[in-house]
Amino acid sequence: MMLPKYAQIYEVGPRDGLQNESQYIATSVKIELIERLANAGFTHVEATSFVSPKAVPQMADHAEVMAGIKRKKGVVYPVLVPNVRGMEAALKAKAQTVAVFAAASEGFSLKNINCSIKESFVRFAPIIQMAQKTNIPVRGYVSCVVGCPYEGDIAPSAVAKVASELFKAGCYEISLGDTIGVGTPEQVRSMLEAVMKVVPAERLALHFHDTHGRALDNIRLGLEMGIQVIDASVAGLGGCPYAPGASGNVASEAVLSMLHELGIETGIDLADVTDTARFISSHLGRLPSA
Ligand code: HMG
Ligand code: MG
Repeated sequence: MMLPKYAQIYEVGPRDGLQNESQYIATSVKIELIERLANAGFTHVEATSFVSPKAVPQMADHAEVMAGIKRKKGVVYPVLVPNVRGMEAALKAKAQTVAVFAAASEGFSLKNINCSIKESFVRFAPIIQMAQKTNIPVRGYVSCVVGCPYEGDIAPSAVAKVASELFKAGCYEISLGDTIGVGTPEQVRSMLEAVMKVVPAERLALHFHDTHGRALDNIRLGLEMGIQVIDASVAGLGGCPYAPGASGNVASEAVLSMLHELGIETGIDLADVTDTARFISSHLGRLPSA
């Protein structure tokens, strides 16, 4: 199958990468991380989340982070919002793109956002309305697209249903998250085939955590199936507080290396990203994973 000439890497390190860190990370370090990533050439740097600080203490400085970054022309700094309250705070912080996050599994939805899948769409509706009034694009995440830490295997039809609802509700892009990083290429193919019947490939993104080391194989498969947006996290940081045992996101450096080896352009400088991986890893007292 054909590979694309260009792919976008959607950097989630400052949000997905850092949200699960138990140690305090200074706001100034988060700001420098975001600015370094933008300077490396990422056009999308997910900056923070406007969630409850009780649920995710590391993201409590969301407003300070958004106020502190020097915004670069041509770069967007999306933020996660779980409810109207988060949306109001994100708008006040001058967010230009927001993301709502749903799950394909009831168990994960309940643990992560304390409501059923059905109820989550009731919460998203006013967020999407507010965004449309202010011309703010809304991204939609679907977690647990292959497996769930509470329910095991997830049926492709369940993923397609949630992806389709997010798309119909007005999300410009649907990111499919293998939250616990368990998907095999065979499972990912079945899931993508089901989703692509209801959402076109050009509106999909792939979001892999790399627990079982299959993320790159799965990304390559997704590229071959026509998807051109890949979520990744510098230094392979990450994890979700509600996905016990899940390891980090696939490392941005690893994705970049693979894409460049395949002759796929990204507009991102690998050496700058590797430097940034060293920078954040040294602040966390560990070695970069890639
Ligand atoms: P809830 O319990 O249903 O909400 O939580 P609530 O309205 O009853 O409020 C509970 C408490 O949170 C209250 O405080 C509210 O004031 C406060 P208390 O009275 O107990 O002191 N609160 C807020 N505070 C600040 N900002 C807000 C806000 N809303 C309520 N916006 C809620 C629902 C969704 C808010 C909560 O469960 C939450 O914040 N969850 C966050 C979950 C999260 O961030 N998970 C990680 C991101 S998702 C992810 O990582 C997966 C992804 O990467 C893709 C993948 O890998 O699959 C995207
Ligand atoms: Mg994630």
